[in-house]
Amino acid sequence: MILMKNIIFTTCLLLLLSTLASCTKLTNQIYIVELGGLDETQTQRELHHDEEEIENVHRSYLSSVKESEEEAKASLLYSYRHSMKGFAALLSREEAKEVSEMEGVVRVHKSKGMMYSLHTTRSWEFVGLEGPLNPNWADYEELSSHQKIKNGQDLLCRANYGQNLIVGMIDSGVWPESKSFSDEGMEPVPQKWRGICQNGTAFNSSQCNRKIIGARYYLQGYESQYGPLNEEEDYKSARDKDGHGTHTASIVAGRAVPSASAIGGFANGTASGGAPMARIAIYKACWPIKGQSKHKGNVCIDIDLLKAMDDAIGDGVDVLSASIGYKTPIPYKDDVIGRAALHATRKNIVVVCSAGNNGPLPSNLSNIAPWIITVGASTVDRSFVAPIMLQGGTIIEGRSITPVHMPNSFYPLVLASQVELPGLPTNASGFCLDNSLDPKKVKGKIVVCMRGEGENIRKGLEVERAGGVGFILGNNEQLGNTLYYAAYFIPSTVVTYQNVLKLIQYINSSSNPMAYILPGTTVLNTRPAPLLASFSSRGPNIIDPNILKPDIVAPGVDILAAWTAEDGPTKVTNIDKRVVKYNILSGTSMACPHVSAAAILLKAIHPTWTSAAIRSALITTAGTTDNTGNPLTDTNGDPATPFAIGAGHFNPVKAADPGLVYDASYMDYLLYTCSIGATQYFQVTYKCPNSTSLPEPTDLNHPSIQIHRLKGTKNIKRTVTNVGKSTSVYTFTAKSSEEFSITATPNILAFNHVGQKISFNITVTAKMGQISNKDGPARYYFGWYAWTNKNHVVRSQVAVSFT
Ligand SMILES: *[C@@H]1O[C@H](CO)[C@@H](O)[C@H](O)[C@H]1NC(C)=O
Ligand SMILES: *[C@@H]1O[C@H](CO)[C@@H](O)[C@H](O)[C@H]1NC(C)=O
Ligand SMILES: *[C@@H]1O[C@H](CO)[C@@H](O)[C@H](O)[C@H]1NC(C)=O
Ligand SMILES: *[C@@H]1O[C@H](CO)[C@@H](O)[C@H](O)[C@H]1NC(C)=O
Ligand SMILES: *[C@@H]1O[C@H](CO)[C@@H](O)[C@H](O)[C@H]1NC(C)=O
Ligand SMILES: *[C@@H]1O[C@H](CO)[C@@H](O)[C@H](O)[C@H]1NC(C)=O
Ligand SMILES: *[C@@H]1O[C@H](CO)[C@@H](O)[C@H](O)[C@H]1NC(C)=O
Ligand SMILES: *[C@@H]1O[C@H](CO)[C@@H](O)[C@H](O)[C@H]1NC(C)=O
Repeated sequence: MILMKNIIFTTCLLLLLSTLASCTKLTNQIYIVELGGLDETQTQRELHHDEEEIENVHRSYLSSVKESEEEAKASLLYSYRHSMKGFAALLSREEAKEVSEMEGVVRVHKSKGMMYSLHTTRSWEFVGLEGPLNPNWADYEELSSHQKIKNGQDLLCRANYGQNLIVGMIDSGVWPESKSFSDEGMEPVPQKWRGICQNGTAFNSSQCNRKIIGARYYLQGYESQYGPLNEEEDYKSARDKDGHGTHTASIVAGRAVPSASAIGGFANGTASGGAPMARIAIYKACWPIKGQSKHKGNVCIDIDLLKAMDDAIGDGVDVLSASIGYKTPIPYKDDVIGRAALHATRKNIVVVCSAGNNGPLPSNLSNIAPWIITVGASTVDRSFVAPIMLQGGTIIEGRSITPVHMPNSFYPLVLASQVELPGLPTNASGFCLDNSLDPKKVKGKIVVCMRGEGENIRKGLEVERAGGVGFILGNNEQLGNTLYYAAYFIPSTVVTYQNVLKLIQYINSSSNPMAYILPGTTVLNTRPAPLLASFSSRGPNIIDPNILKPDIVAPGVDILAAWTAEDGPTKVTNIDKRVVKYNILSGTSMACPHVSAAAILLKAIHPTWTSAAIRSALITTAGTTDNTGNPLTDTNGDPATPFAIGAGHFNPVKAADPGLVYDASYMDYLLYTCSIGATQYFQVTYKCPNSTSLPEPTDLNHPSIQIHRLKGTKNIKRTVTNVGKSTSVYTFTAKSSEEFSITATPNILAFNHVGQKISFNITVTAKMGQISNKDGPARYYFGWYAWTNKNHVVRSQVAVSFT
């Protein structure tokens, strides 16, 4: 390759030599240099060029613009080869321009330094517990619990517990000593594994084993943006300080750890991941937000994430699990997860991502690309019940996992607003904010504090400071009935807004209000379950209105899994000195790894299936009813729409035998990017066909349908592949809101061999009377269609808006 050696003095270099260093430093920015992208014809040989060889090539571009070889070497941050062809480097604007003019360079653009974050909810409300994980692994519908467990175990057994498969965790690292990651009794590392175990602070290469088979970390983008990592806030290695990465990895593939017991003796039992024998590869790309106490959150810088995924693709993972997203919807051109995930499909890697925690407001989804499985969060059928006993015998429902209890005898019950220090502004009243309570009025009492202002954990501390014996955390009207709880330091329980009103009424109507809080207990088989979590991000997909998202929901509320063993359950490090080895977190971050585990089991059972087939199997078999037999509901009690739950609650047992799948290849996805005019954003130098032979975006063979601004009638092509019995006949059924109709041609599919593909047309027709909303945001209406035989219902959700 010939590089143009074309030295131009930058404005910087023309300045006095003494100011040169600082000047260069100031103007250097992260640029991404694309060298003719990956395309569908790229050979395996090209992909497997020696890493060093590729770096040398990339460095040679920099040598010609930098002063010295050392500078060139130092400015190369990452070389990419599986998710894009090119590199990330620190360049001045002038240098970037120069590089962009070199032969072989397709595009040079400034990295936006996009900051992704991990998808847990308010981390300070986290809680420490140990106990049974995933009580609802099998089906919510129809089956007896005995049958559910039997089916779940049968699935695990057929999948050999995921033993030969590898999940790549893009997250905050791992705590390798956790019992959940023991490699006892495991077979040698699968031969195909090409990853490494990178040493670093408190983590050396001998710490990988047959369970955690690889570990790497990515700091270049983070440190270029924020300066050196503060090593008091995190380890400069794959070791997890935050806890999030340890938690998600153990949800996917933690070993079964028996007789785990909780802080305060809560939920006891066996903790286990969904694919307990699968191998784990750690890619740490998320780091603490600089200069703030770590519970304020993490950031994952785009070039770090891209390199993490790039390596994972090359290392040979089977499933990639990323509980990460941007805080608002981002376009494909900035979406590094979407881009890397597209290239992962070339190797049939299933990419599973969280939908985000921006609910309940609509239109705020993460990870919306059609080749990703986008996972929302739902509740499990378990709750931690801690009612309030009022004098007179009334019982008010509450929830708690606080490990300290009060005796069953009555204490005075007050509202925070009744016991505050004089002079407190009215807008700060009722919340138990720091130094707001009057110890003379609080001593020996139970205080009702409202959510909405201030951190909940501090409210408990404030009541304790003022001498209270317990506290009740009440939702305000807006927070309704979504309860968050934590392992507070004094006896406590949390109540819904409705119950806050009952407490206020009791306190108002009683001359001497008295109460006590019963100890929290774990209650299983609660009804209705699952419910959609209020925080789970909702559709519609405003980035790509051709694709219905999220795809599916899985447990993401109060999920118990491994923790770092050096942190308190509430993560308020300067206050919480308790140490727990298992912890409960909530977020779509916790839902995503449940589906990653299911993908591992499905891949183990069906090794020849594409990533699209696995996604299809999960989506078309998802459950839409709860354990009372009614449609799965949203937190407000209304039936949840596909924009909340996608196809419904995941069901790994049914997904193992879906009957039919909607398959799609890497090529199909490339064509899809052509059809939406976005190919150039995915670093592919694929030559799109002429517009006349381009498919329509809605023709991507996706297991759901979304039509944006339908006018009249639309025909949509779909193809299903028979993965069930060789001879089978499926009939068509459909249901839709009255604004449109769904029909199919043909409406009977008769298969005579396994692997047979049959195409059909779905016709969606707008009916008279639908509400026109041309100027406002598109208003969607829902329906579904299904192919049904004796043993299968292959269901696809449909969302339609009108012109
Ligand atoms: C990691 O390993 C390399 C090579 O063996 C060694 O030079 C380096 O000091 C090690 N780093 C840490 C933090 O252990
Ligand atoms: C790596 O860590 C293990 C466990 O902490 C320790 O036993 C071993 O000596 C370490 N190896 C090196 C080379 O530091
Ligand atoms: C949890 O502990 C209780 C009481 O100690 C016991 O009755 C129960 O069987 C245990 N549950 C599990 C799942 O181990
Ligand atoms: C999405 O949610 C985030 C966080 O809740 C919020 O800051 C942002 O404004 C929301 N964006 C949209 C488009 O609703
Ligand atoms: C109350 O209002 C004042 C003045 O508007 C404001 O400065 C303060 O932050 C508010 N306090 C709370 C807790 O909202
Ligand atoms: C409680 O009593 C106060 C006055 O004593 C009154 O302002 C308030 O409306 C009452 N609240 C309820 C919920 O009854
Ligand atoms: C696409 O269009 C161009 C110009 O319109 C034409 O030269 C070319 O042959 C066409 N390619 C195909 C595959 O039809
Ligand atoms: C589907 O519709 C297209 C025209 O829109 C037609 O060419 C094709 O034959 C139809 N396929 C089936 C299976 O009916």
